[in-house]
Amino acid sequence: MDHSRTPVLEALTKFRERGDVVYGPPGHKQGRGVDPRVLDVLGPGMFAADVLMLNGLDDRRESRGVLDQAQALMADAVGAERSFFSTCGSSLSVKTAMLAVAGPGEKLLISRNAHKSVVSGVIINGTDPVWVHPRFDPDLHLAHPPQPDDVERALDEHPDAKGMLLITPTDWGGCADIARIAELCHARDVPLIVDEAWGAHLPFHPDLPAWGMACGADLVVTSVHKMGGAIEQSSVFHLQGDRVDPDVLKQREDLLGTTSASSLVYASLDGWRRQMAEQGRALLDAALARAGRVRAAVDGLPGLSVMGRETVGPGGAADLDPLAVTVDVRGLGVSGMQAAEWLRAACHIDVGAADQCRVNARLTHADDDETEARLLDALRRLVDEHERIDPQPQIRLPAPDTLQLRTVMLPRDAFFGPTEQIPVGKAAGRVAAELVSPYPPGVPVLAPGELITGAVLDYLASGPPAGMLAPDAADPSLRTLRVVAE
Ligand SMILES: Cc1ncc(COP(=O)(O)O)c(C=O)c1O
Repeated sequence: MDHSRTPVLEALTKFRERGDVVYGPPGHKQGRGVDPRVLDVLGPGMFAADVLMLNGLDDRRESRGVLDQAQALMADAVGAERSFFSTCGSSLSVKTAMLAVAGPGEKLLISRNAHKSVVSGVIINGTDPVWVHPRFDPDLHLAHPPQPDDVERALDEHPDAKGMLLITPTDWGGCADIARIAELCHARDVPLIVDEAWGAHLPFHPDLPAWGMACGADLVVTSVHKMGGAIEQSSVFHLQGDRVDPDVLKQREDLLGTTSASSLVYASLDGWRRQMAEQGRALLDAALARAGRVRAAVDGLPGLSVMGRETVGPGGAADLDPLAVTVDVRGLGVSGMQAAEWLRAACHIDVGAADQCRVNARLTHADDDETEARLLDALRRLVDEHERIDPQPQIRLPAPDTLQLRTVMLPRDAFFGPTEQIPVGKAAGRVAAELVSPYPPGVPVLAPGELITGAVLDYLASGPPAGMLAPDAADPSLRTLRVVAE
């Protein structure tokens, strides 16, 4: 296919050349009605490119197939059979993917290191989840994706499961053995969905971990705004084989998706695909070299250690994305959350995820010598100046297996049924009715339907004084919890 083409961007150019005047949404009429003070901040280009797909970029019958062509080019660029653009982030795409495989009340195997959007999907879709627990590294206090053995056991115990949802890479860059897990699923003729929100770049360089489609997964969800170059909320589903019916996927997407898809998202996805198809190899070559330099430099700094390939191997990750630079800061005597806040306040460096032990800096094709130097300078300053960071109470990290809670109720019933808000001290032995997800990264510690234990409560109660944020809890201070009413 001709990857120099960009059907959405070309349609936008034609729209402007024709001089169409629109009497439907968006009501700002390509910026005509926007308050100049807003234009000052957002720029006129953004509003000029905000055009409806129907009766805008394409005609009412979609006869030019603008979106279809752009999606076909995306599929061709990554090597999928079909690709679908989605404008509500992977938060929505992952719910659709789950719903395309398991309807209400049906079982789905799901790795428990799932993002909160997956657990929300379980609640909204009425999925009966079979949680497959990740492997915890007790020294690093880090969850690696579930191992193939764990998946095999769950498949054997739940032959009625409709499929599996795997989350890989993790927030810290560790990758699952997708190929082996796909084989195990396919041996039972059920599909494997991969939530590859952090992996949009993986298809474009052979030295990066192999991505879901290349490993035989049936349906892969990616967030292109995370490791790619499209704007926030841009997400793509990729599909292959016949275990997931594309019509079912489309109809279930239609249940959840917006009727006013953003042309800004579509256009930036289209342009990113062209950039990657034409220059991805060279751009990612440079990013990989940069990541190698950053990793070596940070590892040489006293008190810091970079998560590297020592985490890859039996019982650990199957691979590691080198562009996810995860830095353990425990050697400085500060938490990852404190380090993240100090880096922002003192150096104007905003890292990605941070937890008790570490921070994570994502490098992409967009980094350059300046961003490389800024990150390294800031980390050097953190090492030199960490003693100025006020001591904070420590989070009481739980023994890894105590995080594996038993699900005793369908999450949807626990969430939507009668609930009580009770003091955290009284919550042991009760059933959670809400999600509690330290954020970022946003992996729920508690999911609705899980039986709450004293060990998990002890961990959660120690979180907020130490800087842990749990914005999805009804009471983010975590002094009280929402549980199923008795
Ligand atoms: C593993 C995973 N899945 C899904 C999502 C949701 O993606 P989005 O932010 O594109 O809605 C995230 C977001 O961080 C994530 O980490």
